[in-house]
Amino acid sequence: MKPPIKIAILGATGSVGSSLIKIIDQNPNLIDVQSLSANKNLDLLASLANRLKPKKLCVAAGMAERLLAKLTDKTIIIYEGEPGLVELANDKQVDLLFLLVAGVHGIKALFAALKRGIRVGLSNKESVILGGKLINQLLATYRGQIIPIDSEHNALYQCLSARRLSDVNRLILTASGGPFLNYPRNSFPKITPRQALKHPMWEMGSKISIDSATMMNKCLEIIEAHYLFKFPVAQISAIVHPQSVVHGIVEFKEGSSLALMGQPDMRLPLSHCLGIGGDDINSGVPFMDLTKLGRLEFFEIDTKKFPTINLAYEVLTLGEGAPAYLNGVNQELVEEFLQDKISFTDIFKILQISVERVKYFFHNLSKAPQFLVNQQTLDDALAANFYGQEFVSKLFKSKKTIF
Ligand SMILES: NC(=O)c1ccc[n+]([C@@H]2O[C@H](COP(=O)([O-])OP(=O)(O)OC[C@H]3O[C@@H](n4cnc5c(N)ncnc54)[C@H](OP(=O)(O)O)[C@@H]3O)[C@@H](O)[C@H]2O)c1
Repeated sequence: MKPPIKIAILGATGSVGSSLIKIIDQNPNLIDVQSLSANKNLDLLASLANRLKPKKLCVAAGMAERLLAKLTDKTIIIYEGEPGLVELANDKQVDLLFLLVAGVHGIKALFAALKRGIRVGLSNKESVILGGKLINQLLATYRGQIIPIDSEHNALYQCLSARRLSDVNRLILTASGGPFLNYPRNSFPKITPRQALKHPMWEMGSKISIDSATMMNKCLEIIEAHYLFKFPVAQISAIVHPQSVVHGIVEFKEGSSLALMGQPDMRLPLSHCLGIGGDDINSGVPFMDLTKLGRLEFFEIDTKKFPTINLAYEVLTLGEGAPAYLNGVNQELVEEFLQDKISFTDIFKILQISVERVKYFFHNLSKAPQFLVNQQTLDDALAANFYGQEFVSKLFKSKKTIF
């Protein structure tokens, strides 16, 4: 009998992490959990550890002792913070690393795993947006593999596997449209964080839920698709598909298209990734009854209402650190919005201002920080992201009326 696949789960307590845990519960003999990580949710991490019996854990800095007190097995090795995530990625016992953390905190672990040449199941789009160019260099050098878990990218990955890349005309990502698809634009300034957190199709963490509401999520996904599949940005587009049944479409030069359909459930891309080694994974997701689906609709994205989509094309035209910078700006704006410090429409305004600023740097190279216009290292990628965050925090500290 084939031995179970040995996995590490970084971000086990999150929304995607919880979907993965459900699959593990359905397939106990096929998957061997070597390690788990969380940030501060010690209770959930401890209960997962007590049940799944991993050998290693990682939590936020300074929290190991409190976690240990909640564990039944006191011999489990506990790491802390970002260096701890890198330790889990470097564990030679692990064949498949799931990087499911939110934000930029997993990028060093991703680089470590890719240097080991292993397979990574990646939902953490921020890493690719920050360091896409460098990640592709690592993949080429160490022959590792990234299986996208983001449902749109997983769909494109599966459709692309069916044909020659030279046959492809266009990659099309679908977007549910988020909670405000049919909301009038003039009501946008009154949107509250509570309203924005309620996604019509997906249950997700707070950051990605706000990004879906502004459609910044689709902007970030266009950037992610560019780096993951190495197609020029002009060959990548997005359309609205409110039912979220068709996740991605690849259009071929002769005129036909291949699409991947499935329930809007993260267990599907996660199971696809787990099954790549040949295991027969039971996702637990019911089959779709096409006769009950009713209508499937597809629309163009209204970019006047959601100008965020255009930002993907603007920063990808610049390349280097520009996507990382935009990610940092957006990350900070989402935080400010969740804390009720700025309005929903302020997010759109400040994103646009920040892209104008980064364009200015690319047109005036002598005034630009090197990490922004010439990305050479992981530190450059992190610096560009931080520069974006800092731009927003300085903007608020200066208390200037910019709107
Ligand atoms: N949710 C979805 O359906 C979905 C779909 C496609 C892509 N994604 C992407 O997948 C990633 C995770 O999304 P999510 O919705 O699952 O997020 P989430 O529910 O907020 O979970 C995030 C996970 O990351 C951990 N984490 C947070 N901050 C951390 C830090 N500073 N250091 C280490 N770990 C940290 C959390 O630990 P605690 O629980 O302890 O806070 C949790 O385990 C994001 O990049 C998102 O864009 C999500």
